[in-house]
Amino acid sequence: MSPHSLPPAPAAYRTLDTDGIRAFLAGVPTLATRLGGPAAHWRIREVSDGNLNNVFLIDGPQGGVCFKQSLPHVRVDPAWKMPLDRTFYEAAYLREIRPCVGALTTDILHFDPDLFVLVVESLDRHVVLRRGLMAGGDWPDAARAVGAFVARGAFHTSLLAAPFEEITRRLDVFSGNRTLTRITVDLVLTDPYRDHPRNHWISPDLDGIAADIRTDPHVRRRVGAMQARFLTCRQALLHGDLHTGSVMVADDDTRVIDGEFACPGPIGFDCGLFIGNLLLHLFACGDSAGQDRAVRDIAQFWASFHDTFGELWRTATRHDGNGDAYAAALFRDDPSGLQQAQADFMRDVTADTIAFAAMEIIRRIVGYAHVPDFDTIPDRAARAGRQAAALALARDLLADPDIVTTIADLESLARGRAR
Ligand SMILES: Nc1ncnc2c1ncn2[C@@H]1O[C@H](COP(=O)(O)OP(=O)(O)OP(=O)(O)O)[C@@H](O)[C@H]1O
Ligand SMILES: [Mg+2]
Repeated sequence: MSPHSLPPAPAAYRTLDTDGIRAFLAGVPTLATRLGGPAAHWRIREVSDGNLNNVFLIDGPQGGVCFKQSLPHVRVDPAWKMPLDRTFYEAAYLREIRPCVGALTTDILHFDPDLFVLVVESLDRHVVLRRGLMAGGDWPDAARAVGAFVARGAFHTSLLAAPFEEITRRLDVFSGNRTLTRITVDLVLTDPYRDHPRNHWISPDLDGIAADIRTDPHVRRRVGAMQARFLTCRQALLHGDLHTGSVMVADDDTRVIDGEFACPGPIGFDCGLFIGNLLLHLFACGDSAGQDRAVRDIAQFWASFHDTFGELWRTATRHDGNGDAYAAALFRDDPSGLQQAQADFMRDVTADTIAFAAMEIIRRIVGYAHVPDFDTIPDRAARAGRQAAALALARDLLADPDIVTTIADLESLARGRAR
């Protein structure tokens, strides 16, 4: 990653092992009570499966908690040093959005600023959506719930919902999340479009399309514009890492987790990452029923996001909401004017969504951190073939913004290319 100075870890910081976790939880009365019984009886399991942090689930006789601690380096690459502040931003994000999204995310139970420990409720009935989809599972309500999550979180942290003084004060906190925003800028928005040692892919069969993406002048121009959009369009507070591994599902419940990448940005970034990961799943999916479900999930996510966001906006206008953008005074008595303004706004969000979805596909196949969805295809050449098809779609979406202009068109183009 780019060189930048690393603040020293606070003197009180140490990475806790299971004994340390037990003693830590026992020392926080609200957590000890939630777990119940003597601390010696608590069961502690490590569930870290991501790149960055230590994550443990702790069960006691009364209940469970999820314990997450930042490390002074990337978990899977100890040589890659990193400041500890990511759990601080995840805690701040949960505090910010939990009031507007309710049980679509987890309740925050504790944050320790010296140890950079975040404790949230344990989702022990749930599975990670990506893993569930890879195993052929179906959660027909999950994508709709994630759409509502994005709409509510984005609306309530945007200038449509509150005066600029309040919104900028809230967003400014997250402008400080520079460590993880740098990772997004490098790994998502830049590296795949330049020669970089972090880039890799599974087979020389992809060399051609990877080079094509790096050198196509139309792609480069669009990527440059999307870099600027990500860094300058402070539309709302983003989750910032909304892939299918950041969603946990049970039959009757969906939760978005892992908001450590939270930053101000364009709403279409969160939408694009989620749709991009559903598209990756679509291309990795061998059976047509699974492909149908992936397309259905994209449609339901988008309808839910679009309708929920629009309804929140209409309600705010009707009730003289005090947002400073698209102020209620302009549209209170002009529903068709409001409808037109909403359509214009959503057209921009749609364009961002499609471009960021394409960039997510690219970085997850030829960048640093790949998605495991394609691992379900045993034959390497077949796997590379599916990835090449996904990359070609992404390249075409970036090279020609007019190839699809609606999410419905994106669904049918992708469905046809994934056959
Ligand atoms: N509240 C929770 N309840 C139960 N399990 C959880 C909870 N939060 C996280 N997990 C489990 O721990 C895993 C890692 O959590 P998380 O994704 O937050 O870690 P991370 O280090 O930030 O990962 P990444 O590097 O992918 O960002 C999840 O995939 C999930 O299996
Ligand atoms: Mg994470």
